[in-house]
Amino acid sequence: MSERVLVTAALPYANGSIHIGHLVEYLMTDIYVRALKMAGHDAIFVCADDTHGTPIELNARKAGVTPEAFVERFAKEHLEDLTSFGVNFDSFYTTNSEENRKWVHYIYEKLSEGGHVERRSMDQLYDLEAERFLPDRFVKGTCPRCGAHDQYGDVCENCKSTYEPTELKDPYSVITGSKPVVRASEHVFVRLGDFADFLREWSAKEGRLQPEIGRFVQSWLDNGLQDWCISRDAPYFGFEIPDAKGKYFYVWLDAPIGYIASTDHWGQVNGAPDAANEIWKDKKAKVVHVIGKDIIYFHCLFWPAMLHAAKLNVPDHVRVHGFLMVNGVKMSKSRGTFIMARTFREHLDPIYLRYYFGSKVGQSPEDIDLSFEEFVNRVNAEFVNTLANLVSRSASFLKNKLGGKYGALPKDAEPHLAEVRRLVADAEAAYQAFDHAAAVRAAVQIADLGNKLFQDGEPWNLIKTDQQATLQLVTLCLNIARAATVVVAPVVPPYAEKVYGVLGLDGAPKSFEEAIRFDLLKRPMGEPERLVDRISLKQLDPIVEASKEAEAPKAADADDDDESAIEPIADQIDIETFLNIDLRVGLVVEAKKVKKAKKLLQLTVDLGEDKPRNIFAGIAQAYEPDALVGKKVAVVANLAPRKMSFGISEGMVLAAGPGGADVQVVDVPDDATPGSRIR
Ligand code: 2FM
Ligand code: ZN
Repeated sequence: MSERVLVTAALPYANGSIHIGHLVEYLMTDIYVRALKMAGHDAIFVCADDTHGTPIELNARKAGVTPEAFVERFAKEHLEDLTSFGVNFDSFYTTNSEENRKWVHYIYEKLSEGGHVERRSMDQLYDLEAERFLPDRFVKGTCPRCGAHDQYGDVCENCKSTYEPTELKDPYSVITGSKPVVRASEHVFVRLGDFADFLREWSAKEGRLQPEIGRFVQSWLDNGLQDWCISRDAPYFGFEIPDAKGKYFYVWLDAPIGYIASTDHWGQVNGAPDAANEIWKDKKAKVVHVIGKDIIYFHCLFWPAMLHAAKLNVPDHVRVHGFLMVNGVKMSKSRGTFIMARTFREHLDPIYLRYYFGSKVGQSPEDIDLSFEEFVNRVNAEFVNTLANLVSRSASFLKNKLGGKYGALPKDAEPHLAEVRRLVADAEAAYQAFDHAAAVRAAVQIADLGNKLFQDGEPWNLIKTDQQATLQLVTLCLNIARAATVVVAPVVPPYAEKVYGVLGLDGAPKSFEEAIRFDLLKRPMGEPERLVDRISLKQLDPIVEASKEAEAPKAADADDDDESAIEPIADQIDIETFLNIDLRVGLVVEAKKVKKAKKLLQLTVDLGEDKPRNIFAGIAQAYEPDALVGKKVAVVANLAPRKMSFGISEGMVLAAGPGGADVQVVDVPDDATPGSRIR
């Protein structure tokens, strides 16, 4: 039975470009929607740009443009990039829209009417220089639990403990580097605990979540739900809270509501002005969200709770996928594997990535690996040598040796056709279970079957003795080739359309039922053409090279942890060479900023000598001077003194990290004696 299904992919932040990591989700969703449509369902694919929040507001300011102009640029670019990879949205809208404001107000009103909203004062860190409160990710400092430096305001990456930003030791603002003060501010909270029973039931329903995700959500529920702060202080790019002047809705409140706003907009431009109500209120559709594993909390707790409170329809299914790895590790700028969609398509046809991702996305939310070698091998072996080859070899034979017109099917075709029917049905079901990999496997199996018939039937020999049997054999192969093409069409639509042209069919496959018509009989075929070329590993080199140069987008929450590669290890040295470096324990007795040198701190370091040394260290963006006084550090003590415009530097303090704010001086035990040697 045909169903109306509203499908969403997570809204990309209008704060950076689309990269291949994003593409996993947009492609898997696009394939799913295309398959639903081919199965006869009334599927609608909606998405939007996620435009609000502090990072966007700050980046727009930095770029010297209004946030509206800033997000507009990205919205255009996102749609262009995604469309170029064949992602076919029914609606790609924006959260910075009147429709979204309307729905945000509606849901907030319902939350308030239901008594789920409360206000209370909260202590927060305030940056006096930037004149703003600092969200968790905009403050760093020393972990209050383990003492690790440079940890964000919400969680320590070293010991994984979570805490309030006000608990950080030696906090500093990521925006200005200054030391924030604590200020109270009134905030609006949603009492999430009110929805615990509902969420327990919602998340436990069969088919709602993948089993591992369901268990995750249940464990969060078991641990109890904290109130959710949905307000942010000005300056903020977002919607002002109607009954709380100067306060704005937190971006994560209005972002998922963007799914409804995008539906609303779709209805308006498609002559169905009531579509949003029908879908989200009257339950005339199933709602399916596709998301990454980093935003489960929002989609499986906050979002269903909000919808439930507003008496709107809750998601029928939330499908979670893993992250993209490249060659087994996280995407990395220094390895050139943090690849933008644009960079990829400038060098290689997006269809190859569609094929590969299609063949990799399975049921589980495990990470997906783009192994370059596997990518090339799989594309060549399956897509080019199996799927396209069956079409090309059979079509050329029909054209060149048999007059370009199909014949009848051979008398003994039925068992083969039955096998094809079975595989087509499996594939159709697999797509609907988000097991695209299984569907692609089925397409390849169908093509394997056709290739085997062609190979075993030896039409090049058979034609010498039996022209009619040859025509029947090639006709059967082409009908099987069509079935394989229809099955793989959601994954590689432009390829499927090309094949249809070769076969003498109009347009592109529209329904899975076409796969099992087997009606390419006694009619002219089309013109053979090159369908898809083999690829080689070498073709990936320029992509990697270009990605090394290109600047990867800053993660929108300033969470720049995509760098996993290390700097190459230097050439080997012998022990004598190492011992030539005289490393000593030093005690920082004084530290101050250096005028006109933003990156430097001037340190006075006691090495147990008659007189402490003067050392300039490039760590000013990572440390407030006071935080270093009394600290034991490792010093290269026999480095030739260096004359600088502000004075002479008499040594070097060892530090780790790439630079800027991301540097930590090497820890030396507190009880080590100044001057003792480090080996
Ligand atoms: O994590 C993200 O990239 C968010 N922009 C996703 C938002 S999805 C939805 F809830 F709006
Ligand atoms: Zn810690």
